[in-house]
Amino acid sequence: MARAVRKATPGTKPLLVVAVLLLPLALVACGDNGDGVDDELVRRSPAPGETPAATSDATPSGPDGASARADATNAASTATPAPPTATPNADGVYIVACHDFYVPLDKVHRLDDDCAPDALVSLPDEYAYGPQEVVEGVLPDLLALLEAASEAGHLLAVVSSYRSYETQRNTFEYHVNEYGLDQALRVSARPGHSEHQLGTTVDFSSTTVGYELVEAFGSTPEGRWLAEHAHEYGFILSYPEGKEVVTGYAYEPWHFRWVGRELAAEVRASGLTLGQFLLR
Ligand code: DAL
Ligand code: ZN
Repeated sequence: MARAVRKATPGTKPLLVVAVLLLPLALVACGDNGDGVDDELVRRSPAPGETPAATSDATPSGPDGASARADATNAASTATPAPPTATPNADGVYIVACHDFYVPLDKVHRLDDDCAPDALVSLPDEYAYGPQEVVEGVLPDLLALLEAASEAGHLLAVVSSYRSYETQRNTFEYHVNEYGLDQALRVSARPGHSEHQLGTTVDFSSTTVGYELVEAFGSTPEGRWLAEHAHEYGFILSYPEGKEVVTGYAYEPWHFRWVGRELAAEVRASGLTLGQFLLR
């Protein structure tokens, strides 16, 4: 953690990429409360009918998991980790506990509109493509991951992180307007349903793919390193390739949710998707 880090957001950042990032953001940012650059606005949407291939694997855990998870939980809340309970609302959707890092969030589990993390911290510029914030307790593992990647020769940047309910609403509406509802539902969560609202979820990208969020990222050295090592730092790929029928979302090789090292090792070993694991 003490080593000098390499810059992931160099001054040579291509202007075209910046324009690509900012233009769609500007288009949907009306009402945005300034949560930063939005990811799914720059991604390639999968072609209609595109079917990802099967994947996934299982490997061991990383060090020092329990304390990191406990610290982060304490920092964020005293809420009891709990799968959804009670009865769904009229739409069949369950409202899950706010400030609980381990709630399922999918098509039928969501956070309240006003649920927001207690303590957000900014990611250092070296690793942030635009302003990025995460829950305080997540930062040590996130920095450890980014530094380990850098030491392995992979320059990763976080291009999206915490997103408020309002930002997610704009994001989802953008996708609906741009691609239609069916396609939007494959690639963007409805407001309240996004793991980004937790403040524990980040989207990584790299210069290799112009800091965009595209499926091709999964085949880059950076994407492959993440797939192999992210769990060692407490992060799980939420939407694996070939699991759309399970997760409800197309393959997102960039989208990782922090659950702590201990739980991440369990999820990895289980062979389940994160959603399946949290609801098991
Ligand atoms: N792209 C993921 C599903 C989200 O919008 O949170
Ligand atoms: Zn994401």
